[in-house]
Amino acid sequence: AAEDGLNAWLRYARISDAKSYHKRLPSVISTLNATKGLPVHTAGEELVAGISGIFGKKISVAKSVSSKDTTVTVGTVKAYAAKDAKAAKALPELIDDGFYLKVSRGNVLIIGSNERGALYGTFHYLKLLAQGNTSDFSLASNPDAPVRWVNQWDNMQDGGTHGSVERGYGGDSIFFWDGVIRSDLTRVSQYGRLLASIGLNAVIANNVNANASILTPENMDGLARIADAFRPWGVQLGVALNFAAPQLLGGLDSFDPLEPKVVNWWQGISDNLYKRIPDMAGYLVKANSEGQPGPMTYNRTLADGANMFARTLQPYGGIILFRAFVYNHQTLNQDRDWKADRANAAVNYFDGLDEKFEDNVLVQIKYGAIDFQVREPVSPLFSHLRKTGVTIELQITQEYLGQQAHLVYLAPMWKEILDFDMRVDNKTSPVKDIVSGKRFNRKLGGYAGVVNVGTNTTWLGAHTAMSNLYAYGKLAWNPSLKSEEILDEWTRLTFSSDRKVVDVLRKISMASWPAYENYSGNLGIQTLTDILLGHYGPNPASQDNNPWGQWTRADADTIGMDRTVKNGTGNAGQYPPEVAAMYENIETTPDNLLLWFHHVPYTQKLKSGKTVIQHFYDAHYEGSATAQTFVPLWKSLKGKIDKERYEHVLFRLTYQAGHSLVWRDSVNQFYFNKSGIPDQKKRVGNH
Ligand code: GCU
Repeated sequence: AAEDGLNAWLRYARISDAKSYHKRLPSVISTLNATKGLPVHTAGEELVAGISGIFGKKISVAKSVSSKDTTVTVGTVKAYAAKDAKAAKALPELIDDGFYLKVSRGNVLIIGSNERGALYGTFHYLKLLAQGNTSDFSLASNPDAPVRWVNQWDNMQDGGTHGSVERGYGGDSIFFWDGVIRSDLTRVSQYGRLLASIGLNAVIANNVNANASILTPENMDGLARIADAFRPWGVQLGVALNFAAPQLLGGLDSFDPLEPKVVNWWQGISDNLYKRIPDMAGYLVKANSEGQPGPMTYNRTLADGANMFARTLQPYGGIILFRAFVYNHQTLNQDRDWKADRANAAVNYFDGLDEKFEDNVLVQIKYGAIDFQVREPVSPLFSHLRKTGVTIELQITQEYLGQQAHLVYLAPMWKEILDFDMRVDNKTSPVKDIVSGKRFNRKLGGYAGVVNVGTNTTWLGAHTAMSNLYAYGKLAWNPSLKSEEILDEWTRLTFSSDRKVVDVLRKISMASWPAYENYSGNLGIQTLTDILLGHYGPNPASQDNNPWGQWTRADADTIGMDRTVKNGTGNAGQYPPEVAAMYENIETTPDNLLLWFHHVPYTQKLKSGKTVIQHFYDAHYEGSATAQTFVPLWKSLKGKIDKERYEHVLFRLTYQAGHSLVWRDSVNQFYFNKSGIPDQKKRVGNH
């Protein structure tokens, strides 16, 4: 049923032997200082729904509790201290959004450092219950980073009629319709519930390619309604801005960030937004990129631009995420300019600005230097900003990675990125510690995930794609979790705790990213999707001779981008010395990034002993062969999963298996035609 999709991992499906648990469960709920519309109150309601759903036990929120009751108590540290100062003092240390959870023979204590933390602790408890775990324990959990945001790329209107989602594959916008905010925001509240349950705390609802009309008085009222729908879940709202809005919407003759009238105009906007949304999270800005306006239009720096917004937010405690995804596709040379490289742009634009940003500016950096490819080295910019806080931008929606028609579980890829050691100043510097702020002692930092759910009842367009949203939230809270443990938990909550179901989903999911890399693009050549037509399906030819800069530089004899300092674009030199030396040298560059950093003959030998071209052929066969196994694996679960979701997933996996063959044959044939080098195993080419 539609509910299975909408509730995703919060189905609270009835557990077997439900009755046998009743004695070990609380008999009453006590919420401390709960105010309707705020998270502690929500937590009470969620406990009622969860315990009744999972176990069929009806309990309710009580005004007063007697000593005969076993009680689940939920509240903030402050409310708890008002009740029992001594017990509150003994709590472990909690930072913002953190929680303490203690289960002891049916009595449960859930204390949040703030309202949101109390709700997070509640969801943690309910997830354990849903997996049949009622055992005694205690736990203090604090987030690794304060910023754990979602970016939606929702358009307010499209052709004047409706709200589409850029790079969204799950239907129309749940926020916008016909240029305004939808009147029915039920789905927004349901989305807030899912986000809260995985620790995500803010959403930018409108596209980074922002429409200035989001700031009309009518739409600001609408934004306030969105914020109201999210607030019970502890999810704050932020807004993506169009840099030229003072001109486009305000009627000014300029949007120069140093012009007082422009500054005043923006201050007015912030004032008006905070009047309506006192807890607004802040802004997201894409400037001077892919045709968007920005400060450089007036020869001002990116810092001048970011700071203008930041100052208008300071009276209210808001922050601005200013994107590092800045490049000018019009100046990228379409010819084979050996030195041109879009991967260099971010560092080139941001170098020299580190000291210049206001404290409430975070620079938002995509994980790789180009654009959400199947394999990219970490963006070098992470090592350049020391003083300025950063967020890492991950993409849950699978733009280049099969657009939810392919199952690709992304946690293993994100973890490789987050665990990568940048060796800044020759010291241990994993990206996750740069992002959280620990490495450079910064207070602010964190995560931004481009999610792009839509009105589809599966949210993302496929039930299985939701493991990526789940993993995103879990990793933003704790990047040290293992991909497998996140996945297993998601499976048990979403489908079933049946061993076989958990095993099969783990097998498919853990094999999926390597398989997709194998049959789409390997050795660091990027995902060879059609670059001009929607980023879907194979089209290696489309990658070159265009201004988008995702080049492969493939010709009859050679392939790859020379990003070395000695002979290429110099990109390897943007990394700290130890990493730079690794990438500069072919011998020390890992095979899986060879073609990202080096331009080599197809006959170049890899560390595996294979040539580049033979690796291409073999990997495409291996990856697509793996995708074939997903179908029988899934079929072995027939009867263990409800028919509707079983068929939905089967249809997609069958499609993926077929499409992986299309990928295999198109890519292999393309490089055979280019190189003329036969496949040693005689599968590719004219035999
Ligand atoms: C990609 C994506 C665009 C998006 C851009 C961005 O290029 O294809 O749709 O606008 O990234 O992140 O700004």
